[in-house]
Amino acid sequence: MSRDSTAKVLTVAFLLCVVCSILVSAAAVGLSSRQEQNKLEEKRRNILLAAGLYDAGIPVEDQFSTIEARIVDLQSGDFTAEFDAATFDSRAAARLPETNRLIPQEIDLADIKKRSRYKNVYLVREEGRLRQLILPVHGKGLWSTMYGFISLSADLNTVNGFAFYEHGETPGLGGEIDNPGWKSQWPGKKIYDETGRVRIEVLKGQVDKSAENFQYQVDGLAGATLTARGVSHLLQYWMGADGYAPFLEKLRQEGVKP
Ligand SMILES: Cc1cc2nc3c(=O)[nH]c(=O)nc-3n(C[C@H](O)[C@H](O)[C@H](O)COP(=O)(O)O)c2cc1C
Repeated sequence: MSRDSTAKVLTVAFLLCVVCSILVSAAAVGLSSRQEQNKLEEKRRNILLAAGLYDAGIPVEDQFSTIEARIVDLQSGDFTAEFDAATFDSRAAARLPETNRLIPQEIDLADIKKRSRYKNVYLVREEGRLRQLILPVHGKGLWSTMYGFISLSADLNTVNGFAFYEHGETPGLGGEIDNPGWKSQWPGKKIYDETGRVRIEVLKGQVDKSAENFQYQVDGLAGATLTARGVSHLLQYWMGADGYAPFLEKLRQEGVKP
């Protein structure tokens, strides 16, 4: 057989493919735990960012150790010790019939169809007293499900920070939900009015600072009204009666036990 025969060329190409696929598979398997670790670290970083506690100079793990992770049963509005808060995965729980809730269409503002009955929440305390409560929220944008954290001050109404850590909206359009300028409008905004109604919303256009509703409103995103509407809707769902409202009401009345 000559050196350049078709059979030889095909054999070399085949062996090269096998070697490369083994290398790629080995890298994917070998790095999967590192990827999981990075994902967890990124999520924790975003919890810290939402709370305004992130310091780039300190390892995320050290900063996160000051935050208390708990699980809430949204049905009862109580904390539960049924699951380990460090490992509980509410996305996985949303897929299991024994831990999920199917959301009736007429109240599914976030357009997520089902959610976990149990949610991770994060408490920041100072001398035992609750200073901030960080809540995970998610809902549909234009192209994707957007996942974020909203941090509330001790009054459980004033926003301390709000950031998305995962979404697939278009960079420069819906992706502007990550823009630090846009995000900087959230601290100080109020979620509920005095009757307990969820009022927070992202407008189409700019907020009128002299308007009566100014404290509940955030500027829209130019050319990305559909993503912005998704943000309003997901907050209205999660902060409402089928989301965290019963839990927040209990917390207001009973406080957080040590
Ligand atoms: C390629 C492409 C990507 C787009 N991505 C988004 C997006 O991520 N979020 C969004 O709200 N609108 C996006 N739009 C625009 C929407 O189709 C729609 O026009 C827009 O949300 C309306 O907002 P406006 O009234 O502020 O212009 C995209 C449009 C195109 C053509």
